Amino acid sequence: MLPPAMNAFRILAFSAALQTSQSPPDTLRAPAVMKNLSHVPHVVEVDLTAAPARLALYPGKVTDVWAYNGQVPGPTLDVNEGDSVIVHFTNDLPEATTIHWHGMHLAAEMDGSPIYAVPPGGRTDYVFKVGLGRAGTYWYHPHPDKRSGHQVEMGLYGGLIVHAAHDPLPPITEKLLILSDNRFNPDGSVDFPDPNSLAGQIDVENGREGPDLFINGQLDPVIPIRSGEIQRWRIVNASAARVYRLSIPGQTLIWVGSDGGLFEHPEDVHDVLIANSERVEILVRGTGAPGARASFVTLPYDRYDPHTRPADWDETHELARLAYSTLPPITPAAIPDVVRPIPAIDTTQVAATKVVVFTQGLINGRTMDMSRVDFRSRVGTTEIWEIDNLVAMDHPFHLHGFRFQILDRNGVPERVRRWKDTVNVPKHQSVRIIVHFADFAGKWMFHCHILDHEDEGMMGILQTY
Ligand code: C2O
Ligand code: CU
Ligand code: CU
Repeated sequence: MLPPAMNAFRILAFSAALQTSQSPPDTLRAPAVMKNLSHVPHVVEVDLTAAPARLALYPGKVTDVWAYNGQVPGPTLDVNEGDSVIVHFTNDLPEATTIHWHGMHLAAEMDGSPIYAVPPGGRTDYVFKVGLGRAGTYWYHPHPDKRSGHQVEMGLYGGLIVHAAHDPLPPITEKLLILSDNRFNPDGSVDFPDPNSLAGQIDVENGREGPDLFINGQLDPVIPIRSGEIQRWRIVNASAARVYRLSIPGQTLIWVGSDGGLFEHPEDVHDVLIANSERVEILVRGTGAPGARASFVTLPYDRYDPHTRPADWDETHELARLAYSTLPPITPAAIPDVVRPIPAIDTTQVAATKVVVFTQGLINGRTMDMSRVDFRSRVGTTEIWEIDNLVAMDHPFHLHGFRFQILDRNGVPERVRRWKDTVNVPKHQSVRIIVHFADFAGKWMFHCHILDHEDEGMMGILQTY
């Protein structure tokens, strides 16, 4: 990932720091939190600007990026259930953009879909209320017609955390980890090959990936932990196309949350898959001895068509290093058995069933047409959607505005109930979801969340009425 010299430098700097203090340095920086300009209780009012900036994303190089408030990732929107949110947005980019509040349940006009583009130099206010029971980890990103991938890859993405009034987990150290990957030219610029070149075509086919794997805009940061400590990590996959299989070799992870927040029972897992735009919450246990080291990695996952599969697809990549303090172990915090009840959506009240067929670049045989409505659903009803992937590559399905539950995959009932807004549909597989169209009439996108696929037209429009 890093040139060897760079690695050696980092390790030296790291061990020097170790010698001078008992705890290793926390090199994983949290994104800044957006400043709340309102003094009214339960109102969060923020300013957000998307604009070109120059940042050292890749160590030692300066990159022309597009950034929210000058930062990559953008600042975190941190709110509570029940809050009213007002975002004063300014587009200082040279092209149209939007902000999509991925996973939020809000009016269609506030959803930042490509229908509501903000022109260069334009301003808009996004206003929405965060519902009760919506605590979880979300994120925001641009969603303009055909340019979502480009703008995210230029640096436009940020976290959105909704806190519950009474969080069922004990108050332990919490971290937000926003995963993204990128690829740079030798001069430090973001590498976008000519779309007609072979490299450009592979980017469209696979979705654009890069060899440099970032957490919160940092390469291979150090995360300090103490023996016995339990940390809560909220993880967002902001990569345009890379799917991560997260693991800490030598120990298990406690999986507690998904797109729409915590689920019922913590699950002990070896690794957890996180497709594009998905979120997971895990509890990381400090099972190592004082002074020990561990690695937070992404394991190989074959989402690819065999024809365009990258050569290094079966390699494990380190994302961060876990460094134990030399202090003696502490007693681990107690984790409750039941975290947050998730009521099942009633399967006996299904008003309609819809079928979404994925082929390469197409949904139900068509590409996106902004003037077409692909599906209509009545507000207040419940539907089952079946998503069939007919091709030899995974495609993560995402629906705007309405959270759903997974019923089954290839006919096998889903074991754990979770709130989801995105589900990866593996090659040649079929997934059925159930969704209740509460509250809002309007036009909503549904699409493959490999952003290059979405930009190429692997998207449709649902109208709720
Ligand atoms: Cu994450 Cu249509 O979006
Ligand atoms: Cu979305
Ligand atoms: Cu796709």
